[in-house]
Amino acid sequence: MKILLTGSNGLLGQKLVYRLAGNASHRLMATSRGENRLRKTEGYQYRSLDITQAPDWERVVGDFRPDVIIHTAAMTHVDRCHENPAACEEQNVKALELLIAACQPYQTRIVYLSTDFVFDGKAGPYRESDQPYPLSIYGSSKLKGEELLQQSGLPVAILRTILVYGVAEELSRSNIVLWAKGALQKGAPIQVVDDQYRSPTLAEDLAEACVLAAEKKATGVFHVSGPRTFSIFELVEQIADFWKLDKDLLKRVSSETLNQPAKRPPRTGFIIDKARRELGYRPHSFREGLAMVDKQLKAAHGQQV
Ligand SMILES: NC(=O)c1ccc[n+]([C@@H]2O[C@H](COP(=O)([O-])OP(=O)(O)OC[C@H]3O[C@@H](n4cnc5c(N)ncnc54)[C@H](OP(=O)(O)O)[C@@H]3O)[C@@H](O)[C@H]2O)c1
Repeated sequence: MKILLTGSNGLLGQKLVYRLAGNASHRLMATSRGENRLRKTEGYQYRSLDITQAPDWERVVGDFRPDVIIHTAAMTHVDRCHENPAACEEQNVKALELLIAACQPYQTRIVYLSTDFVFDGKAGPYRESDQPYPLSIYGSSKLKGEELLQQSGLPVAILRTILVYGVAEELSRSNIVLWAKGALQKGAPIQVVDDQYRSPTLAEDLAEACVLAAEKKATGVFHVSGPRTFSIFELVEQIADFWKLDKDLLKRVSSETLNQPAKRPPRTGFIIDKARRELGYRPHSFREGLAMVDKQLKAAHGQQV
């Protein structure tokens, strides 16, 4: 299978490169904005592709003729989307129109990444059949992307996910595990909300779900997250426990006190039975995920010394 990946410099994108490069059954074309930032360069090709540029899509899709596109690239920072809705619309909605136009002539299959932020968080954990009602610009933009793809007539799998964590190289943004571990190791007190609930997702598990969806030619919506839902406070406590860090540094706050620019859904979390059943998705527990992160951080540290 010829797989075109967008956003290969991002957290999920990097995991997909490591998962697919050199794979005997697949040929991978990784793309992202600008230069390839990964140390690994063998076993796949790389092209620069800005998803907001129609000529980039036409050139890369026309030359490579992928069987499937795994579309991870997006404006993913929820508060930045709130502060700059025009940029969010361009990267998360208009870019989807360009992707669809580039795929129409070849009926290319698409695996699209969406989010728990399509829900209002009043009644999590959610099933695929539950009614979306986004509270933020980011959530609305990802839902509009879903709708455009569903109306396109192309074969599309929509994988919604939640709070992705993991280790990767030179990321443009951090994630909950690295952020909490880093702050607590420095002895910095941190404010953590105790009224938002999420199912944290190991980036490797999500990458595997994308590959399963591509290989099985899945279509429709799938909820793909970690197996359990915790409050963010419980989650950070587990991070502190795992690395034996000082939990007295954690200050429990409400979302109202934290007053983040974009509104967050209070209680999401997913019921992942459909992904287990139809994709064969088997996520790690949060503790197993932390153990994997620990191993990768030690390996990366070993390389730098
Ligand atoms: N992370 C989460 O917690 C989470 C939760 C729910 C859903 N999702 C969805 O999952 C997908 C993957 O997320 P992630 O965590 O891997 O995000 P990420 O680490 O922010 O990666 C996104 C990548 O997209 C690239 N990108 C942004 N604009 C681009 C453009 N115009 N052209 C080409 N590339 C562009 C970014 O490039 P730069 O590195 O150069 O900025 C970045 O490498 C996204 O679609 C996101 O909406 C993520």
